[in-house]
Amino acid sequence: MDFRLQNSVSVCRRMRLLCSLWVLLLLGVGSLLLLVHLPDLTDTVLHQNPGVPVLVAPRWPVEKDSTQPSDAVGIGRVLVSPPGLRPLSRSVSPLSDPVPDRKQRVTKRHRKLLLKTALPGGEEVLQQLDSTQESRLHLLKQFCSRYRPIIGKRHVTRQQVSRVYVEDRFRLLYCEVPKAGCSNWKRVLMVLGGSARSTQDIPHDVVHYSNHLRRLESYTFSDVVDRLRSYTKVLFVREPFERLVSAFRDKFESPNLYYHPVFGRAIISRYRANATRTALRTGAGVTFREFVQYLLDLQRPVGMDIHWEPVSQLCSPCLLRYHFIGKFESLQEDANHLLRSIGAPANLTFPDFKDRNPQAERTSSRITQNYFSQLNATERQKVFDFYHMDYLMFNYPKPFTDLH
Ligand SMILES: *[C@@H]1O[C@H](CO)[C@@H](O)[C@H](O)[C@H]1NC(C)=O
Ligand SMILES: *[C@@H]1O[C@H](CO)[C@@H](O)[C@H](O)[C@H]1NC(C)=O
Ligand SMILES: *[C@@H]1O[C@H](CO)[C@@H](O)[C@H](O)[C@H]1NC(C)=O
Repeated sequence: MDFRLQNSVSVCRRMRLLCSLWVLLLLGVGSLLLLVHLPDLTDTVLHQNPGVPVLVAPRWPVEKDSTQPSDAVGIGRVLVSPPGLRPLSRSVSPLSDPVPDRKQRVTKRHRKLLLKTALPGGEEVLQQLDSTQESRLHLLKQFCSRYRPIIGKRHVTRQQVSRVYVEDRFRLLYCEVPKAGCSNWKRVLMVLGGSARSTQDIPHDVVHYSNHLRRLESYTFSDVVDRLRSYTKVLFVREPFERLVSAFRDKFESPNLYYHPVFGRAIISRYRANATRTALRTGAGVTFREFVQYLLDLQRPVGMDIHWEPVSQLCSPCLLRYHFIGKFESLQEDANHLLRSIGAPANLTFPDFKDRNPQAERTSSRITQNYFSQLNATERQKVFDFYHMDYLMFNYPKPFTDLH
């Protein structure tokens, strides 16, 4: 694992280096700075996007919080430091961490409301949620420090923040992970930002194609730096095998005007012996096994896609240092906990829409097992290796006992 990782990292570095130099020549930018930072290319582990041009982006320093001692700069500070994100349970003494009055009042008010309404079980539940966050973040921090030699300098590319949505009113950064509740998160962001009144009346197409949300990459250099430094950074993840099966079912098992012609055709023509002419023409009917062959192929005929790209690459957790990690498996609870922590309007709760194929059953662990039983042990192991970083970073148990 490690050895392979090193290899692909160095391959990536070489490719990016060549590409970067080319851009430098072409544009003639006065970019000694860029050159200086090139060796810092990070978090591109296992990242191969054949057919997708490597994006060379300006890079900038990530939050180096000068008010903190340097060893405290990192993920672990979360529960006490991000402005706007307060632990809700009483177990964390407000005295140990003074906060502005306004925020404190909001939190207290919302806590009361929360105790009365949203969460039966009250204070105990809040404590549980706070300590769950603490341990998720602690674990991720440990993981990242172990991989620092590969992952780590304090520089971020525009591409690495390209999946991050910005909500300026509540000072929130949300990294989009498809198949882990992102449509409903976008609805919530729209309401928070004031472009919608309620999450209830935002149709799927509006959510994805006219949501008025801005991505972090669209801001200027200094605005990006500011936001990375001072906003509450949020990530929601999902069991990787389940996310993969969910993506497969969504994109390949019902008609799709993009994934069938673009991915389906390429996959069938590469991996299916004796494919019919119809299958080659439409790209419909890709099997899970064929899809996995594509996923694992280092020379894959079409590029990566955000719906199955590992979260470790989509959201660069070791670089961006999230303050809150929610899980799809406890989506409502985690999301509402976060909303209360940032002082969101009390009548805003996380919605429960199933956007894609509402008539199909939600992908569960039982369904996931069924799909994976179509693969042999070697293939399962390889898919596990593919998502290994995600399993480690977010502490998901091995989904099959025979995996190592
Ligand atoms: C929530 O409350 C705000 C006022 O605080 C109001 O403007 C908004 O319409 C309410 N939203 C819903 C869905 O009731
Ligand atoms: C493909 O077709 C040929 C000839 O019809 C046949 O001999 C071969 O076994 C088929 N291959 C597969 C994998 O079905
Ligand atoms: C599993 O399937 C792959 C094809 O994807 C094949 O190359 C391999 O030999 C199979 N392994 C076992 C143990 O059957």
